[in-house]
Amino acid sequence: MRHSLNDLDARRLLGGSPVALVSTSWHGAQNVMPAVFVTPLSIDPPLIGVAVHPARHTHDMIKYSEEFALNIPTRELLHHVQYLGSVSGTELSKLELTKLPTFRARRIEAPLLEGCVGWIECGVHDAYRVGDHTLFVGKVAAVQVEKDAFDETWLLTDPEERPLHYLGINRYAILGDTMEARIPQPADIKRDVEAGAAELIDEAEAAERREREEQEKDRKSRG
Ligand SMILES: Cc1cc2nc3c(=O)[nH]c(=O)nc-3n(C[C@H](O)[C@H](O)[C@H](O)COP(=O)(O)O)c2cc1C
Repeated sequence: MRHSLNDLDARRLLGGSPVALVSTSWHGAQNVMPAVFVTPLSIDPPLIGVAVHPARHTHDMIKYSEEFALNIPTRELLHHVQYLGSVSGTELSKLELTKLPTFRARRIEAPLLEGCVGWIECGVHDAYRVGDHTLFVGKVAAVQVEKDAFDETWLLTDPEERPLHYLGINRYAILGDTMEARIPQPADIKRDVEAGAAELIDEAEAAERREREEQEKDRKSRG
C-alpha cells in the first residue's frame, strides 16, 4: 500500500549513504562534522561534492581554508558521529572534547581521524549555492584506505571495517551481503534482441538463487 510523504522526506528515501566525517583546519583551529550530502561528481579530474549548510562552522572553515578531508568512519565511531553532528564547533573544540586521535594528512592541513577506514583529502575547486546549502566541489589531492577493508571496492569482510551508513534521525546501518550482478557481454546483445534481455536476466537470477540456496544449505550443515 503506497502513501504520500512530505516533499522534505525525499532525501530520507535516498538514505543509506555512507557517512563522511568532514575535517577542517584554519589558523590553528580544527573542526569535524559528519556529512551525508556527499557525492562523486567527476572521474577525471577526480571531483567530489559535499553540500554544507551555511550555518555550520564547517562551512566557513572550508570557505576560508579552501580544503577539507573526508574520513570514512566505521561503527566504532557510531556515537562520536552522532555527537559531532549534534553540536557545533563554533564555540568549542569537538576534537579536544571527544579526544579523537588524529594524524597528519599528506597534502592538506586538515587532520585525519583514526578509527576510520578511508581518507580523502581535497582542495576546493568550486563552490555553488544550491538551495539552502553550499555545494563545495573538492579536487582530490590524496586518498588512503585501510588495506584489509578495500580492494577495488569495499570488501565488507570484517564487520568492524565496514563503512558506517546513515538512514536519518539517529539511525545507522552497515552493509551486509555482497552480490555480483551479471555483466552483459557483447555476444549477448544479439541474443538480447532475439530472446529479450528479460530471459538472460531470468537465467542470471536463477543462477544466483541456486548459489544462495547452496550457501544456505552449507551454513545449515555446518550447524
Ligand atoms: C549523520 C549526519 C549527517 C549529516 N550530514 C550533513 C550534511 O551533509 N550537510 C550538512 O550541512 N549538515 C549535515 N549534518 C549536520 C551537521 O553535521 C551538524 O549540524 C553539525 O553539528 C555541524 O557542525 P559544525 O557547526 O561544527 O560544522 C549531518 C548530521 C549527521 C548526524
